[in-house]
Amino acid sequence: MRALVLVFVISALTLTCSAKQFPAGFKFGAATAAYQVEGAWNVSDKTPSIWDIYTHDKPHKILDGSNGDIACDSYHLWETDIQLAKDLGLHFYRFSLSWTRLLPNGFANKISEDGVRYYNNLIDGLLANGIEPMVTLFHWDLPQNLQDLGGMTNPLVAEWFGDYSRVAYTLFGDRVQTWSTFNEPVIICDAAYETGDLAPGIVSPGIGNYICAKNLMVAHATAYRIYDEEFRAKFNGKVGIVNNHVWYAPYSSEHEDLTFLARQLGFLYSHPIYSESGGWPPSIESFIAEKSEKEGYVTSRLPGFTSEEIEFIKGTADYYGINYYTSRLVLAARANSTLTWPTNGQVDLQVELVPDASWTAGVEWLVSNPPGLRAQLNLIKEQFGDWEIIITENGFSTASDELDDVTRTQYYKDHLEQVLLAITEDDVNVTGYTAWSLIDNFEWNSGYTSRFGIVRVDFSDPLRSRTPRASAHYYADVIKHHSL
Ligand SMILES: *[C@@H]1O[C@H](CO)[C@@H](O)[C@H](O)[C@H]1NC(C)=O
Ligand SMILES: *[C@@H]1O[C@H](CO)[C@@H](O)[C@H](O)[C@H]1NC(C)=O
Ligand SMILES: *[C@@H]1O[C@H](CO)[C@@H](O)[C@H](O)[C@H]1NC(C)=O
Repeated sequence: MRALVLVFVISALTLTCSAKQFPAGFKFGAATAAYQVEGAWNVSDKTPSIWDIYTHDKPHKILDGSNGDIACDSYHLWETDIQLAKDLGLHFYRFSLSWTRLLPNGFANKISEDGVRYYNNLIDGLLANGIEPMVTLFHWDLPQNLQDLGGMTNPLVAEWFGDYSRVAYTLFGDRVQTWSTFNEPVIICDAAYETGDLAPGIVSPGIGNYICAKNLMVAHATAYRIYDEEFRAKFNGKVGIVNNHVWYAPYSSEHEDLTFLARQLGFLYSHPIYSESGGWPPSIESFIAEKSEKEGYVTSRLPGFTSEEIEFIKGTADYYGINYYTSRLVLAARANSTLTWPTNGQVDLQVELVPDASWTAGVEWLVSNPPGLRAQLNLIKEQFGDWEIIITENGFSTASDELDDVTRTQYYKDHLEQVLLAITEDDVNVTGYTAWSLIDNFEWNSGYTSRFGIVRVDFSDPLRSRTPRASAHYYADVIKHHSL
């Protein structure tokens, strides 16, 4: 009898255990971005990026008036970062290259020896510790001299970016297997070209953002095709793009049509790449074209693609990268609405986005709705088919720098549960998960007031000492057991 009970208990335990198990081969990582962690903004032959110039010229745009001059000093402390990644048991570390650290002219005619040395050290150090490097080519820090020539609104940016990508593949492609071209086009184009609150601080809502959108799509495809044609046979790696998605649910049943449009707008930077037909999401393209016409424009404010461009961009990804943080309810804009977040396409659509009262609030925009992640993963599959999906960012910010970060730990647990459900219950092919962020860092307009690290950084300490939080211990445990 006793033996039987024991058998029962053991099998129940095994069952619970395997139900929470991630598939073999599923990879866990953590992420950072160059401007947010490296510091060393003016060492050697590095030239300023738009974020160096923006934070220096307009400190009032940053909540605490700070900048990334020193940030986490990862330019000097890269070995410490690798050790942290190793202690966590990370399978991969996602970081970005600083374009101006590698190419001081922005153009490929001059390659910085110090820049190459820095990234070689980082990549080799990671590999020596069994950690795969996952490299983002562009995480918002455009060379300022290219911005002076129009930046993302100059169609030549596709060539400049292509040339830069070729340098990166040539230098590091023998060791880097997974590349992302652009991180969060919606922020690069919509947020930065709307209110001017993000570098380069251009105020051109409804115009600049859409010009940027088209050029960015062509630039992405250029970099993908360069890899495909010149490097894939040798290195056999993967190239993709990273889109930031907010899960949109209708505020009430009368807002369902608008929710459909909001979701399509959310796919502005995915549809040209991942859909079978290519090009802009048709509902959005016609909506903006009609609106532009009514406003007296000769052509749509959202520039169209030629059929050659549609073919050039279509299918240019080896995986679907998604950053997910939060969800919103969608309703038709009311008279008193402010429509500034996160895209200005939202202004075109007259969509108001509100959090549900029951969702847990973090800093500013970040409210936690874990089922939104599972729903968004399903929506991607429903819309574009069965792509390999990598969650390239997910995480929670707090104003406090406490070590016992109960809310952040809960956020990770709840979201990882939803990832597992998407895999096991819904057959969505999610192959990796990335915590944002490995360490506290310069959080753009929030400066150092908003903390995302599973590892705390003491910014008052000249040595920028790093201390793992409770969430880091929790995450390490998940990785170690490959289960929740
Ligand atoms: C680099 O910037 C720092 C401020 O972060 C300044 O103190 C230093 O003088 C600058 N170095 C050079 C070589 O310009
Ligand atoms: C806007 O107006 C609605 C009523 O129409 C009200 O419920 C809501 O709180 C208002 N929002 C703001 C931000 O004032
Ligand atoms: C998921 O995608 C990877 C990479 O393309 C592939 O190797 C794997 O077979 C896919 N898994 C499933 C269950 O489709």
